[in-house]
Amino acid sequence: MATRRRDFLRSLGALGLLALPRATWPQEPPKNLQIDPFCGTGDAGSPLFIPGASGPLGRLAPRGVPFTMRAAPTDPSPRPWSLAYQVELGGQRFVDPTLVLSPGERVRITLDNAIGEPTIVHWHGFTIDTRNDGGGTILAQPGEHYAYDFEVRNRGGLYWYHPHPHGLTAGQAYRGLFGLIEIEDADERALRTALDLTPGKTEIPLMLQDRRAGGDYTPSDADRMHGFVGDSVLINGTACPHLDVATRLYRFRVLNASDARTYRLGFRTAAGRSVPFTLIGNDGGLLPKPQPCAEAFLASAERLDLLLDLSTAAVGDTLYLDTRTFDPMHMEMPAATAKEAAPVDHAAMGHAMPQGAAHVDHAAMGHGGAFPEGAARALLELRVRRRESYAARVPARLSNLEPIDVAGASERPLRLGFAKGRWRINDRVFVMGETPIEVKRGTVETWLIRNYFNSMPHAMHLHGFHFDVLERQTSPDQIAALKIDDHGRLATDLGRKDTVLVWPGETVRVAIDFSLPAAASFAGDQVYMFHCHNLEHEDGGMMLGVRVV
Ligand code: C2O
Ligand code: CU
Ligand code: CU
Repeated sequence: MATRRRDFLRSLGALGLLALPRATWPQEPPKNLQIDPFCGTGDAGSPLFIPGASGPLGRLAPRGVPFTMRAAPTDPSPRPWSLAYQVELGGQRFVDPTLVLSPGERVRITLDNAIGEPTIVHWHGFTIDTRNDGGGTILAQPGEHYAYDFEVRNRGGLYWYHPHPHGLTAGQAYRGLFGLIEIEDADERALRTALDLTPGKTEIPLMLQDRRAGGDYTPSDADRMHGFVGDSVLINGTACPHLDVATRLYRFRVLNASDARTYRLGFRTAAGRSVPFTLIGNDGGLLPKPQPCAEAFLASAERLDLLLDLSTAAVGDTLYLDTRTFDPMHMEMPAATAKEAAPVDHAAMGHAMPQGAAHVDHAAMGHGGAFPEGAARALLELRVRRRESYAARVPARLSNLEPIDVAGASERPLRLGFAKGRWRINDRVFVMGETPIEVKRGTVETWLIRNYFNSMPHAMHLHGFHFDVLERQTSPDQIAALKIDDHGRLATDLGRKDTVLVWPGETVRVAIDFSLPAAASFAGDQVYMFHCHNLEHEDGGMMLGVRVV
């Protein structure tokens, strides 16, 4: 048994996919891998739900045909959600469909609001004009319709959609209003062909959302402060899921659709040995080349596109996708909590404070219940059931993505912090109609996003534009330990991003190209949102309007 596992790992290395020095992978079970029993309960679980050609999460390729998405209450059993986007098209019914789109395609969707409160749909990651972005400046009131009409201008990749009415976003998303979007382009098709990948069979979306047992979305003050964290994690709506696999390569396309929880994802054998994967893409589509990776943090709204090679596994093996232990680095709250907390003097604290001093053990704070953020848990069981001969190799080149040229770019400082009971960006909270960030169309800017030590991790997201992560400075140890270059970047910082997690005490520099298409729909000033994707922070006002003039 032991010999076979060693052989399994050795042959993974021999595949040549894995160019990192051997020492990068722990030979002994890593300390953050004390994960027992499966799913927190040892529950045998149920088969992972995989989107089909219709029904829940069903793959819907409209190919230019207009359709209506009705946001409405649903029967929460057997599905966990009480709200859903419902679509009828071509004689098929879809619930929270997975939209399959191509670059250049015209998309015409009418939102029909039947949920009894204002809502709007935001197409997360899309290069889009303000009217179609659904950032919350325009809302559909209960009973109203809103007509989207736009062209797909993004490259291939995994995107998603969810509500964005300011102050109501977290609850509506938690109750089930969200879905995936796959944009298919030539790079995507080439990859599927090269690796013989079939959506729904060997290419599988993993949509992570943590939930609280039996309850609706009813955040406490502490939840608004830290984020609403559930006590179990569903993947594609399945609790404690397992998936039967064959001895071949799999592509997993992971979305963190949780309101607030960050995961530290990694695979392992049943015996606790870390099994590396190959990172091939993230928020903005395929990386230029594959990147070996042992584990990755994934914050709310981030995507991870990865390959797991099981071609040298044995029938009967079991592997797990886990979230591993980490320090969630939540800010210590004075007893008086969010509402009455004294203003924080940033100048006095900040960088003079020893790293980590301001953080307390999350579990000890009583927040997060049975499964606090940062606790380890097995999320998905992979059961190797069938032998298949598989010889395909991961292409050395995945895309021709070029870095953004930052020559002549001006730099914009952005500070993330907490004061007077609110999470803030540059000491401000969101005010509808105000755009404290103004940028010139067609320019490139670097944004220097600095998070104070006495803070929390914030998953910073910009609408309308993707960015390059240029560097991370003064990262906490658990982040610095994963860096892959001397700019302090992580494997997950490669390629294009629309959301970046900034840890307490950390400074992250990103480059953004504010070119917009010259199309009529983009004429005039455009307004986008820049916010924390911890949805409680977003609803609480940790968001600023960005005007592109
Ligand atoms: Cu996915 Cu403004 O968010
Ligand atoms: Cu967005
Ligand atoms: Cu935040």
